[in-house]
Amino acid sequence: MDTVQPNIRLDKEAGELFIIDQTLLPNEEREIACRTEAEMLEAIRSLRIRGAPAIGIFAAYGLYILARSIPETEDFLPCLRQYGDSLKSARPTAVNLAWAVDLMLKTAVARAGEGRAALLEALYEQAAFIHRDDIAKCAAISEYGLSLIRDGDGILTHCNAGPLATSRYGTALGPILLGTERGMSFHVYADETRPLLQGARLTSYELCKAGVDVTLICDNMASMAMKNGWIQACFVGCDRVAANGDAANKIGTSGVAVLAKYYGIPFYVLGPTSTVDMACPSGGEIPIELRDPTEIRSLWYKKPMAPEGVKCWNPAFDVTDHSLITAIVTEKGICRPPYTESLAALFRREG
Ligand code: MRU
Repeated sequence: MDTVQPNIRLDKEAGELFIIDQTLLPNEEREIACRTEAEMLEAIRSLRIRGAPAIGIFAAYGLYILARSIPETEDFLPCLRQYGDSLKSARPTAVNLAWAVDLMLKTAVARAGEGRAALLEALYEQAAFIHRDDIAKCAAISEYGLSLIRDGDGILTHCNAGPLATSRYGTALGPILLGTERGMSFHVYADETRPLLQGARLTSYELCKAGVDVTLICDNMASMAMKNGWIQACFVGCDRVAANGDAANKIGTSGVAVLAKYYGIPFYVLGPTSTVDMACPSGGEIPIELRDPTEIRSLWYKKPMAPEGVKCWNPAFDVTDHSLITAIVTEKGICRPPYTESLAALFRREG
């Protein structure tokens, strides 16, 4: 199976963090290097690197590189915290970013008594662990997700929750890629995902490369595809899951969930436990990123497609109410309602 090359790669010796620039896809698969705080912030904000787990992994390696640049004469921990806060502020909704930065800061605090070289090595190990761990989590999510579908099923997905958004396999696309590796076949309907077209540019690209039968549809075609009986399950990723099971994901996801409920189609949210924010009681407390109106008005067009100065509202995410979610699939197992209980049980378990 042909897949996209790894989306995040650290050159430890050179202190450079390489990513596939996702804004260039599907036309060009090109790596770019990030070395400075400004380059890292720009890469996250402009979605050169995107997807909740991927920005967490990126921030962890990024913080390691920035830690190396702190002069011996400076107070290490306050400087590192400042870099961490700055990376966290780049995108507010996906909790994995803050989760990864906080893990790195915790490591720095725990190892602060050791010499600078040992401390930096510990930070590198922590970042590499977050990366390896995401690969393992995605593999487990893929197995659990695959148990929910059958050979030949039609699956609708929204945005991109594949290898580009994570490490390997992905979350929502993981079961499909794993099943394909095992000789199964699925018909995937990929919502194009206005306004930034992650479904068209990234999901359909990843699936085409992997030899999966994918049909690209505009977001407003999902209802008809469901009515036609083409969809047996919806698989979507998540950026933050609240303790009650409300799940934030790319704008438009909640609409898909409402449609799925109407047509009696199971709606699954797939994500690692690093995306579950038990400190957040419900979706109402999840911060929603608002983005530049030009993404709606003019970004993809030769000429603007709306009157100059027209008001636009451009939230990057929405929250799907827990009552619309059939199950939440994590690396630790499949959670069913009531989510307040099933999610809490995940965190009570060892490991
Ligand atoms: O704005 P984006 O492209 O970063 O939004 C990404 C999504 O909403 C994904 O579905 C989510 O991060 C899950 S990625 C496994």
